[in-house]
Amino acid sequence: MADKKIIAVVGATGAQGGGLARAILADKSSEFKVRALTRNVNSDKAQALADAGAEVVAGDVDDTASLVKAFNGAYGVFVVTFFWEHFSTEKEKLHAKNMAEAAKQAGVKHVIWSSLDDTKKWIPLSDNRMPTLQEKYKVPHFDAKGEANKFFLETGVPTTILNTVFYWENFVYFGQGPKKGPDGKITFSIPMADKKLPSMASEDIGKCAYSIFKAGDEYKGKTIGIAGGHLTGKQFAESFSKAFGEEVTYSPVTPDVYRGFGFPGADDMGNMYQFKAEFEEDYCNSRSIDLAKKLNPDLLSFDKWLEQNKSKIPLE
Ligand SMILES: NC(=O)c1ccc[n+]([C@@H]2O[C@H](COP(=O)([O-])OP(=O)(O)OC[C@H]3O[C@@H](n4cnc5c(N)ncnc54)[C@H](OP(=O)(O)O)[C@@H]3O)[C@@H](O)[C@H]2O)c1
Repeated sequence: MADKKIIAVVGATGAQGGGLARAILADKSSEFKVRALTRNVNSDKAQALADAGAEVVAGDVDDTASLVKAFNGAYGVFVVTFFWEHFSTEKEKLHAKNMAEAAKQAGVKHVIWSSLDDTKKWIPLSDNRMPTLQEKYKVPHFDAKGEANKFFLETGVPTTILNTVFYWENFVYFGQGPKKGPDGKITFSIPMADKKLPSMASEDIGKCAYSIFKAGDEYKGKTIGIAGGHLTGKQFAESFSKAFGEEVTYSPVTPDVYRGFGFPGADDMGNMYQFKAEFEEDYCNSRSIDLAKKLNPDLLSFDKWLEQNKSKIPLE
């Protein structure tokens, strides 16, 4: 154990980082060990990681000194930001900058930065097909991550930019799943028309990240994207129907209608879906199912994930 290399994991009590931490902890012959960062070392989730064998340390992405301390001695760090905690592009970029700076100061050998695309490269602010948000963005939670890539590149720390996708867990926790109407019929609505949405189980992002660390130099300095499936709304609905044993109808709305739903972030999400639909080919091509399978041979298909999780999807 003593000579195992340390992987420091930001967001270890969350979805992506948790997946990575669990993947390393489950591999008893791993060359790596987990250092889990959390703002609260006493939380149940932090305790569960400690019980499973992780070193749990304090770290806050707002506080660079805490990150340097937590990254010191680590071979690798997995870093992710938490847009939906604050909805602020400025905070997201600052947090990424803090983590890049801390990785440099701590002298880590490999950073995996969980990122998304700067959609302004496809849709400049002057393009009125979708509203400009927060004055400088089309899809704020994408664009800020894409803009933040530069902080990692500027530090010179060997970095893998890992472009992720929509989690299937959004059907469980974020109200994105199928819903039963007053007539008892179940419909599934996303503003993707007949276009494919790259997506995956969030746990598999962590498993792929583990494999990227295990691959040594292979993915350092590279930008890669992964997915568990590229599915149309109709295909999602067919899988839901099979899993629930009850018909689920795909009923797409327009991005405009979606932006008008009014929940926090509806405009950002509406623009996101519109971007993915209008640039389907580029977006799908940048999120490889084959690469995800190569990194994680146990990669879940949507049907397999649904088999394991259908009882958790709230239909009401
Ligand atoms: N939902 C999707 O479909 C999707 C798809 C692709 C990308 N993303 C992106 O994924 C990111 C979130 O990652 P996730 O889903 O893995 O996170 P998550 O499950 O929401 O995890 C949140 C964890 O982040 C930690 N955290 C929050 N604020 C922190 C801070 N100031 N300092 C240190 N840790 C902090 C918390 O840990 P403690 O409470 O223990 O400190 C918490 O357990 C977002 O930026 C989102 O845009 C989401």
